[in-house]
Amino acid sequence: MPGTLRDFFLLEKDVVFLNHGSFGACPIPVFEAYQAWQLQLERQPVRFFVKELWPALEVARRDVEAYVGAEQNCIVPVMNATVGVNTIVQSLKLAPGDEILSNEHEYGACIRAWDKVCRHTGAVIVSAPIPDPIESLEQLTEAIWSHVSDRTKVLFISHITSPSGIVFPAKELCRRARERGILTVVDGAHCAGQIPLDLKNFGADFYTGNCHKWLCAPKGAAFLYAAPDKKHLLEPLMVSWGGTNECASDDAFVNELQFQGTNDMSSFLAISDAIKFQVEHNWNAVREECQKKIAWVKDELESLPNVRALYPTNSDMQKQMTAVILQGKKGQAVKDYLEADYKIEIPVWDRGDDAVLRVSVQGYTTQEELELLVSAIKKLG
Ligand SMILES: Cc1ncc(COP(=O)(O)O)c(C=O)c1O
Repeated sequence: MPGTLRDFFLLEKDVVFLNHGSFGACPIPVFEAYQAWQLQLERQPVRFFVKELWPALEVARRDVEAYVGAEQNCIVPVMNATVGVNTIVQSLKLAPGDEILSNEHEYGACIRAWDKVCRHTGAVIVSAPIPDPIESLEQLTEAIWSHVSDRTKVLFISHITSPSGIVFPAKELCRRARERGILTVVDGAHCAGQIPLDLKNFGADFYTGNCHKWLCAPKGAAFLYAAPDKKHLLEPLMVSWGGTNECASDDAFVNELQFQGTNDMSSFLAISDAIKFQVEHNWNAVREECQKKIAWVKDELESLPNVRALYPTNSDMQKQMTAVILQGKKGQAVKDYLEADYKIEIPVWDRGDDAVLRVSVQGYTTQEELELLVSAIKKLG
């Protein structure tokens, strides 16, 4: 029987794993549930794809809908948030001169998806500069909103940002955008499992999120949400049987998007087990503990010489991730040093003449591991 939460995870024991944010990590019982689905599939593939998959998918969809507070039949499985964003990007009908309002803290791969469609349509991305340091959520909201113009067609915004780990004011920006008739696309890759979601009251037209990050489902478990009045705008990246086969559901959106050819959907089916795992381990309390640790490590790091804050320590702005600036440092050199001398797995990026260090704290992270990180950064001077 595992003694600590860390024992439930398959992570190598001697690695100080402070990078849950990049790809998540999966607990053993959830991984076993995923493998059980794979075995069931391979033992009788025809029966599985013709009969067993569909009711199982419906159960998983209902569980995800309930977990993220979505309306019925407004969620479909996707492999990851990248597929979710690409599905939206490819579906929207953009025209020359249309503006996609984005900002400097968006995830690069998703910006590339918008770039591609802009090249084909003549639409343009407007990237709002983000204040550095950020002083408050209000300032951040205005910094983005001030770039809305009469040509803004879409607002694309992360709910929690990748390079900085900040909970962005996405709900308030979606509210303003809806009032102006601007479509909203929210990248929630880091949200399910890290913050409570209530999509039916969030106000986004489209929202995609990973379950393989903070909900700790196996890799390849993600969802795409469309608000009830926007479902008709989305098309599948791959056209498959849609509603024309005997496995059709009674919802056109679900039919068109949930099956895009033969694929192993075991990771999506295992999301129910990931939710169960977090409930059984009192995850609200786990999250609260992680948030305290993140605030602690942020303050400790920022008290060191040559370390600078990107934003104030504020429980509304950071949850289980944070980022600080290491002034005058090279990202790869710091990363190599932390890995070689301390076995710390953590992302460090270049940012102009400085580096950005992003810390993730998950239920398995110990205070000692964070103290080790602080002392390693202190030695860098
Ligand atoms: C904000 C954000 N969006 C999208 C993604 C892409 O996630 P995936 O590779 O699972 O599609 C990431 C990955 O880290 C991310 O941080």
